[in-house]
Amino acid sequence: MRTQVGIVGAGPAGLMLSHLLHLEGIDSIIIENRSRDYIEGRIRAGLIEQWARDLLIETGVGERMQREGLSHDGIHFCFDGALHQINFRELVGKGVTIYGQQEVIKDLIEKRLADGGQILFEVDDVSLHDVTSAKPKIRFRHGGRNEEIDCDFIGGCDGFHGICRPSVPPGLLTVRDRDYPYAWLGVTADVPPSTDELIYAHHPGGFALHSLRSPLVSRLYLQVAPDEEISAWPDDRIWAALQRRLAVPGWGLKEGPILDKGITPMRSFVSAPMRHGRLFLAGDAAHIVPPTGAKGLNLALGDVAVLACALEELLRGDPRLADAYTGTCLERVWRRTHFSWWMTTMLHATPGADPLDAQLQLAQLRYVSTSRAAATSLAENYTGYPPRS
Ligand code: APR
Ligand code: PHB
Repeated sequence: MRTQVGIVGAGPAGLMLSHLLHLEGIDSIIIENRSRDYIEGRIRAGLIEQWARDLLIETGVGERMQREGLSHDGIHFCFDGALHQINFRELVGKGVTIYGQQEVIKDLIEKRLADGGQILFEVDDVSLHDVTSAKPKIRFRHGGRNEEIDCDFIGGCDGFHGICRPSVPPGLLTVRDRDYPYAWLGVTADVPPSTDELIYAHHPGGFALHSLRSPLVSRLYLQVAPDEEISAWPDDRIWAALQRRLAVPGWGLKEGPILDKGITPMRSFVSAPMRHGRLFLAGDAAHIVPPTGAKGLNLALGDVAVLACALEELLRGDPRLADAYTGTCLERVWRRTHFSWWMTTMLHATPGADPLDAQLQLAQLRYVSTSRAAATSLAENYTGYPPRS
């Protein structure tokens, strides 16, 4: 097989990269080791920054999101037994959209296939070859056969556990990372949301988040221990913890059947450079943020927006954007890594922490909830801004 850009991974990064390249007349093939059903059903976060919403709409994949996504103008913090609203629209003139990541995946797959794009699902044994030569190759097994894609460039979009980052010689990578001493237990519940805007709760028993997916479906998260087993959390224990941590006089959390539940570790991770020869890493393959700032999907879309322009110029013979790729992306990545770390450490109860820490967190929460300057900074970071290349 031969294509201009071989893409490993059909997450938001790989699919959007392929879509943006197609709009510039550049062909690509995506290989994905899971099935289409699996990736279309995999539950992830679902918060889209304003510029990312605009990008999806402008490039023709935002129609269903415009119909079904929920526009939010702000969030609430819950602490000191009360809700405190931060109104993004009023502070920075922007909002965010709630729309599940797997819905973005479905829309992108449908569009790529309708536009004649090639996505090979359920591939195995993927390996990269000759990435520093002019003729890089991707080898893999598909449908019981050995296959090879010859390409000009490779998009390494295969997420945190993929094979692309490990294909860069370890001595060339600098990794900065932190594992947090807690995880999130996430549930989808068949009950109308009890709030019209997200609630981020600080509580001595641990963080909780009330999000939503539709007017009929709620999405909720609880801070749990990092090594927690899901079997230790029967539904009634989950609801009891949510009721405790989200308790506000005069407001009630509605309960309903839990449709799915899972535990996600919390990690900050940034590896550099994001380019090695003709291999370009994008999204979770290069960096991970804890979900408290809801930045993972948006960072992945930002990387590939930069990468699509860089590859277009490179194929025309101009290497400047490609040479700047790591620096351009990492500037945004580090800003969001800081924001995600800041939200995370402000809101979670750290096991064994000094009581001073909880007071510092509360002082910070009171400050962002009452100071227009502090709230504006939060609103600017939360609603995001487009990549600059
Ligand atoms: N070969 C082919 N595909 C692979 C391989 C491999 N060796 N390893 C992993 N994959 C696939 C995964 O199955 C997945 O579909 O690569 C895809 C990577 O997608 P994501 O993990 O969604 O990563 P990305 O596209 O960068 O999007 C980042 O996803 O994890 C969330 O919170 C994160 O919202 C963020 C977003
Ligand atoms: C979600 O709806 O899944 C969600 C929302 C906001 C976050 C994280 C997850 O910060």
